[in-house]
Formats: sequence, C-alpha cells, structure tokens
Amino acid sequence: MTLPLIEKYRASKFSEIKGQDMAIHEIKTFFNGFPKKRALILNGPVGTGKTSMTIALANEYNLELFELNASDLRNRSKLEEVLKPASTQQSLFKKGKIILMDEADGITASDNGGLPELLVLISKSGFPIIITANDIWQRKFSLLRQKCQIVNLKELKEPTLVEIINEILKKENKHLKKETVNLIVKNAKGDVRSALNDLQTAISLGEDTLLSELSEREKQVTIFETLKKLFQSPFSSDTLEIFDNTSMELDEIALWIEENIPAEYEGKALAKAYESLSKSDIFKGRIYRQQYWRFLVYQNFFLSFGVSSASKVKSQKFTQYRPPSRILKIWLANQKNAKKKSIVSKYAQMSHMSKKKAMKESYFLPFIIDKKTEDKLDLDEKEREYLQDKRGAIIVSSGLNKFRIN
Ligand SMILES: Nc1ncnc2c1ncn2[C@@H]1O[C@H](COP(=O)(O)OP(=O)(O)O)[C@@H](O)[C@H]1O
Ligand SMILES: [Mg+2]
Repeated sequence: MTLPLIEKYRASKFSEIKGQDMAIHEIKTFFNGFPKKRALILNGPVGTGKTSMTIALANEYNLELFELNASDLRNRSKLEEVLKPASTQQSLFKKGKIILMDEADGITASDNGGLPELLVLISKSGFPIIITANDIWQRKFSLLRQKCQIVNLKELKEPTLVEIINEILKKENKHLKKETVNLIVKNAKGDVRSALNDLQTAISLGEDTLLSELSEREKQVTIFETLKKLFQSPFSSDTLEIFDNTSMELDEIALWIEENIPAEYEGKALAKAYESLSKSDIFKGRIYRQQYWRFLVYQNFFLSFGVSSASKVKSQKFTQYRPPSRILKIWLANQKNAKKKSIVSKYAQMSHMSKKKAMKESYFLPFIIDKKTEDKLDLDEKEREYLQDKRGAIIVSSGLNKFRIN
C-alpha cells in the first residue's frame, strides 16, 4: 500500500460522494444556471467531502482547479493570475477554470489576514470561486456570507460510513471483524477522513493496535469532559463520583487537575483548590506508606468535591485543558524507573549478583534478558513492555533502525 487510503480512494466523481445528495444538487444548479453570486461556500464539518466535491466538480465539468491558500491572498502575482481574465470581459462560467479557496477558517479579518483580499477577489475574479469552511457562521465572515451562496454538507450517517468502509475493504481484499468496523464508525462521528485513517491503522498495523489507539484517545476525551464538569458544573454529592467514568488512575487525574487549576480559578478560589489538592496528596502518601486503602475515599473527596467547591461561581468559558507537562514527565519517568528497579532486582536475585552490580549493567539488560529469561524472572506485562521499549529505543539511537521492521 503506497498511497494512504484517503488519497487512494478519494471520491473524484459526484457519484462517489455519499450522503450529500442535496449539496450535490445545489452545486450543480449553481454551475448550470446563471447564479447571482460569484462564489459558493461549501460549509461543513471535517471529512464530509468538501474538497472532494470540488475535485468532482472540476472533473465532471472539465475545469482546471486553481488552488489558493490563505497566504496566497497576500501574494500579488499569484492573485493577478486569476484576476487578469476579468478584464477581458468573457462570461464568468465559460472559462475552464475554478478557483478553490480551501479551508477558509484560518483567514483573519485583520489588515494582512487575507479576508479583505478574498472579498476583492470575489468581486473581480474571472472565474467562479469555491470556498470551503468548517464554520462559516463565525462573526468575521458575515460580509463574506453575503457575497456567496452557501451550501451545507452534513456529517455522514453511520450506515453510509459502514458502506464506504466495506467497499474499500473489498477492493483491498481485506477483512475486519464486524465489531471493529462498527467501532471505527462510532468513533468517526460522521467524519469520513477519520474513519479512513482508523481503517488504515486496522489494516496495516492490526486491529489490536487500533483498539489500543482508540482507548488512548477515549481517555483524553473523557479527562477533558471530566475537568470541565469538575471546574464548571455546580457541585453536589454527585461530584464525588465524577472520576468513576474515566479509566485514568486517580494519581494521573491529580496531575491533570494540578496543571489546569490556574486556567480556571483565581484569587481565593485558586488558593482553596490548591489546598484541597495538597490534602488529597497527603492521603495519597498515607495510602502508599501504610497501604491503607480506606484513605482512597479521602483522596478522592479532596480531589473531586474539594477542588470543585473551591469556587461557588462557575465559569462557562471554553478552556483548552493542557496535559500535565513537566510533572507528568517526571512521574512517568519514575514509573519507568520503578519498572527498571524491579527488573534489576529480579535479575540480580536470579544471577546471584548484588543489585548494585546489576544496576550498573542495566543498560544491557534489555538484550541479556530474552523471552525465555523473561518467563523465568516472572516479569509482569509492564516490565516486559519496558524491556521491549528499551530494545527499540536502543536500536533507533544506534542508527540500526533501518533494519527494523515495523
Ligand atoms: N460524502 C463522502 N462520500 C464518500 N467519501 C467521502 C465523503 N466525504 C469524504 N470522503 C472521503 O474522505 C476523505 C476526505 O474527504 P475530503 O473531501 O477531503 O473532506 P473535507 O474536505 O470535507 O474535509 C477522502 O478520501 C474522501 O474521498
Ligand atoms: Mg478539505
């Protein structure tokens, strides 16, 4: 497989674009008739066929596609190429070219942002213009909207996505479990691009790889939702169960909370939230030292209700929560170190050497310990994973990675 599936099976004819019959009808009417507007906006979520539809239009009407991006809008000579023919006064739609301004969302209204140039382009262009956007209803586009006909594309329905995936599987002569296909579709949320990317992972790296990738992604989504609830919903007794739906461990959740408290609280609330966080941390320490798991209740209490109740006033703003940066890395490194230590200690015992000596040789352990030895040492899954990671990393860093088979 050389081309990624998204390109290999890109819809390039109207008949290949599924679930967008209304939009196709509107775009055809626009180009067949005598439209009042000189430009057309294809508005819709990612992966619903906006770019493909423009390509299909060019193919079926035999037009050359001239692509512009936001920075081209500030490039005079590039613009002149498309503006020139206007002065020759030929009719708008008989010229054999369309201009595609793809993904216009990034264009800004400021002086050098490109939006004014785009408006000029629309009024002077000798060719019809297609603009694609994910959200044309942003305020900054109000003038642009008036100058264009708007065609809306919708997220694809699940059965349509299943159809698209199954057609590709057939062409690729591959088979996936029905549940995997359903899972891909559920995760795509109407986005064909995302579905095809996941399909690619399943086909080339295996269904298990896809599953673990999806669960990682799920974890991220749920921690975002959890943080939003924690900081922005009114607190109640339900707040105590707020972490029950995430598969993330309490310790890691605490790191996320710590990182994001300053983004949500200020002043007194900020201080209160940190106080709860530190109380929760004290109980965590007691749990570790005394193995007294009953304290989990308190750790959870201060982390959930404690942090949430630090402020009675709840903001409704959009916060882009950040993953815990430095601290998470240290924490992960410690986790790794713990694995290393436990492996070294098991190895030292088996080979009758001191732990200290074994630690000195730990760099070589990933190679000394083969699969059989792993069994003998009774390593758990995490420890095996650690060794496997190390083997890969060492090979890469010594430049042998070209011999690795992925
Ligand atoms: N409605 C659709 N029917 C069939 N395939 C689609 C559809 N929408 C998108 N695709 C496929 O998904 C991929 C991305 O489509 P694209 O047109 O780039 O989406 P957009 O521009 O809306 O983000 C392409 O491989 C395309 O063939
Ligand atoms: Mg696109």
